[in-house]
Amino acid sequence: MTLRSVILGSGSALPKRRVDNAELAERVDTTDEWIVERTGIRSRYIADDSETTGTLATDAARAALAMAGIEATDIGLIVLATATPDQTFPSTATKVQAALGINDCIAFDVHAVCTGFLYALTVADSMIRSGSATTALVIGSETFSRILDWEDRGTCVLFGDGAGAIVLGAEEGERGILASKLHADGRHNDLLFVDGGPSTTGTVGKLRMKGREVFRHAVVNLAEVMGEVLALAGLATADVDWVVPHQANARILDATARKLGLAPEKVVVTVDRHANTSAASVPLAFDTAVRDGRIKRGQIVVLEAMGGGFTWGGAVLRY
Ligand code: UT7
Repeated sequence: MTLRSVILGSGSALPKRRVDNAELAERVDTTDEWIVERTGIRSRYIADDSETTGTLATDAARAALAMAGIEATDIGLIVLATATPDQTFPSTATKVQAALGINDCIAFDVHAVCTGFLYALTVADSMIRSGSATTALVIGSETFSRILDWEDRGTCVLFGDGAGAIVLGAEEGERGILASKLHADGRHNDLLFVDGGPSTTGTVGKLRMKGREVFRHAVVNLAEVMGEVLALAGLATADVDWVVPHQANARILDATARKLGLAPEKVVVTVDRHANTSAASVPLAFDTAVRDGRIKRGQIVVLEAMGGGFTWGGAVLRY
């Protein structure tokens, strides 16, 4: 029998405040029509002063633990993906660890921007299969509202805050993560980046993006990596029950599905409600589709994401 990492439970958390496109149109020169037509986004959630990447991550982790029926103290590993940590250090993973009352486990952050959850999942899966831990929390959590230039209509309408988490357990059998594949190409650093940092400007900085060029790369890279993970798992597009993609733009989701020959009904879409929540978007969408009954035990699910760096990756699992 093969030892695999199985998703035992999932959870998610959103800030209290929902901001629709009409509210943004009062702040910047944009319209609900433009945002919906170009991106599919209708609303996003924005954190208030009491809500941080760490508090959202902790809420999502608690929900995932409850679904899994696992005590926090049974967790041996926390891998948290974020580009918007509470502090430069310590890691937000250790803040979640403390909030959950876990006094000793492995805990660290992973930084691959919008691909962060796929990177975190792959690292946790490798550590589980190599015996470093038997139960892990894998979290994607972001407060991108804090790094947006609220004067730049080309970016500030696209992002939102939120968190998603899963509990992974080691199991021998047919279900679990079947394959994953990660990529990075640092030649594209300047297409999507933050113009600050501790070692350069000494500031947090603001997000900058050449949207049209990112779009072009996203469609090609995402279709390719989905093909790669399916091949690694020995599966075909027809075997896929659900694709849970990074939620950046509804047009990217449509174009990628078309390129793969995948029926649009098999793609989980939450970008309309949550906008782009970077590393949180895949686990947030996954948890949404588990809780509304779409994703069922035994089904084949493909996860994929692409973001700054560029980084991109995919995973295929039997839930
Ligand atoms: O999570 C990481 C991955 N990120 C992504 O995948 C984002 C990828 N990119 C995109 O989703 C799209 O490129 C955008 C949604 C960012 C932009 O859509 P687009 O169709 O590529 O538009 P564009 O950037 O080419 O801009 C078209 C026009 C421009 O006006 P002109 O120059 O044609 O007069 C923009 O100034 O739309 C204008 N524009 C806006 N108008 C109203 C840009 N933002 C807005 C806005 N409201 N918010």
